[in-house]
Order: sequence, then structure tokens, then C-alpha cells
Amino acid sequence: MAHASYPLTTEQPYPRRQWWAAATATEVSRNLVARDILGERVLLYRKEDGTAVAVSGICPHRAFPLEKGRLVGDSVQCGYHGFTFGPDGACQRVPSQNGVPQHATLRRYPVVERGGVVWIWTGEESAADPALLPDLAAIGLDAPGWTVEIHPVATVEARYTLLIENLLDLSHVTFIHATTIPSGEKVAALPVTVEARSGGLTVARKAVGIPPNPLIKAQFPDQDALVDQEFDAQYMGPCLIRTGGTISDHASGKALGTQNFIHMITPAAPGRLHYFVATARDFGHDNPALGAMNLAMGTRIQPEDVDAISAIETVLRGDAPLPREVSARVDNGALQVRRLLEAQIRAEALAA
Ligand code: FES
Ligand SMILES: [Fe+2]
Repeated sequence: MAHASYPLTTEQPYPRRQWWAAATATEVSRNLVARDILGERVLLYRKEDGTAVAVSGICPHRAFPLEKGRLVGDSVQCGYHGFTFGPDGACQRVPSQNGVPQHATLRRYPVVERGGVVWIWTGEESAADPALLPDLAAIGLDAPGWTVEIHPVATVEARYTLLIENLLDLSHVTFIHATTIPSGEKVAALPVTVEARSGGLTVARKAVGIPPNPLIKAQFPDQDALVDQEFDAQYMGPCLIRTGGTISDHASGKALGTQNFIHMITPAAPGRLHYFVATARDFGHDNPALGAMNLAMGTRIQPEDVDAISAIETVLRGDAPLPREVSARVDNGALQVRRLLEAQIRAEALAA
């Protein structure tokens, strides 16, 4: 690929010592599913007791895709010659002989299921620590008092870094989302602050003293007075970015509620990504129309971003030299995140 590493300057495209969203909880069942993650084929299923399992998805005998096999109890039986592997990846049985060949094992990925999402660890197994997951409770994904909707996953022909930059980039709203986010122009003109927060970074902007727009009226029907609205983009690691924030009554400063959009990004391969979106709100729990509205907004807005980053990916896959990159002041947060991500990848290379 002509511009394989852009926008990073590292040799490796992604960090591996990292949790990534592999699937939504409902996608993982007693049926075998395969998903490409960090260039590897991963097989996902549930044991009889419901625990999620992730192992490599290619049979070490003759490379048959294991999702075409079947589950026998908690084990996977390859559909080609019947080699059978336990949930720990160990080969348990080769039907044509007694005993199993050496090295007939599947790689096993540590799994944590949290917030309606099955997360897998792609680094060495001994370093897998659930404490390294982003704080899902803090953003409403794994906490009481929040209503969550999980949207269907989209797989996009674009490197994952383009989506990270898109989400931290608040000035594209006026153009890419001109018709779907009508007040985008005003939002784009708001001053931006960049704050480092525990291992991450938040690009924040706040609309102060604005009349409640139809969306806010739908969320808070009793609010006629002016409101303050946060438009954060919080990088919590390469696997997760939160956007949205709290809406408050302008006069009293009292919070009306918080609406978070939780974007989970997983590299599928060097030029492809999986995009999981969840929405979490701490108000309007008895109003399912708000959930439907979030899903509908996602359906309209998400393809606009997906089209934009796929178009950039097409350019990057071509041979044309790129112009020297220029940035605007508003890109500061996204550039800082690039540096964080590069530092994470380089730290791994040094430790390896
Ligand atoms: S390819 Fe899987 S058992 Fe032969
Ligand atoms: Fe966007």
C-alpha cells in the first residue's frame, strides 16, 4: 500500500496490548461466528454455560474456516476432517487416529463481556487485565441508571485511525453532516478546549445559553428556557471514543441529563475497521421514542462519516503522492491523539 501507515508514523498499524470490541453480546451465541480482528481471523461462540469464547478461526490442519464447523458441547469440531478443539484452544481429538499431533492448538484470546459487548485482548495472554478496559461505567455503558441502545455493527473499508480522527474532528460537522445535523454550523464555530484525562484526551466545546432545539425539546419536553449543551469528544483509548455530553438549564446550571454516543472502533485489517455504536442516556428511561430517535439518527449520520473515511482510504491506497499535510487550529486534539497512539504502539515495540 502506497501510504500504509498514514496518518501514523509508526511501523505497526495498531497496538496489540489492548482490549477491542469483538462483537455485541447478542452476536455471540451457540452458533459459530468469525470476525477479522487486527488482521487475524477470530472465532466467537458461547459455551453451554453462556460464557463467551474467542479462539483463532482457522484450522491448523488444512486451514479450513472453523465457523463452517460445529459446536460439540463446549468444543469446536472442524467441518473438514473433524479435528476437535476445546475452548482453551487445545486439540482434544483427531478422528482418524489415537492421540493428537503436537502444535495442534488454536490461539486463545482472553475475553471479557461488559456493557453488552464482548471484548477481546490481542496482546499476550499474561498481560490481559480487565482493569485496562475503558471505564465503561463512567460513560453509562455498564452502570445502573442509564438506558442503552446498541446499534448494529458496520464494517468499513477504511483504516481505523481515520475513524478515530473523524470522531475527534469537530469541524467536519458543518460539511459532511450539513443536512442531518442542522445546527452544525453554529456548533463548528464554538471554541474548543483540549484536556488530558486519565490516559486519554477530551476535545470539549460547549454551547452556552442556546434555545432548546427540536431534539432537545424531544428529550426534555418541559424545558422551554435556554440550555447549555456539551459537545465532547473523549478519546478513551484506540478502542473507544465517547461523544455527546450533558445538557443543562442555562439559568440555574442544573443538569437536565447526559446523552453519550459511545463509538467502539476495532481494526479488522490494515485498511478495514469494525464500527460499533452504543448510545447511553441517564434520563427519559420510560420514553422508548428517544431510543428509536437515537437509532434513526445513527442510521442517517453514520453513513456520512463512513463515506468520507472510505473515500480517503481509496486515496491512500492509490499511488498518487499526498500533498504535504496541513492542519487547522481545530485539529489540535486529533493531532494530540495521533501522538498518544503512536507512543502506545512504540512503547509496545520497545517492550517486545
Ligand atoms: S482442515 Fe480442519 S480438520 Fe482438516
Ligand atoms: Fe461525523
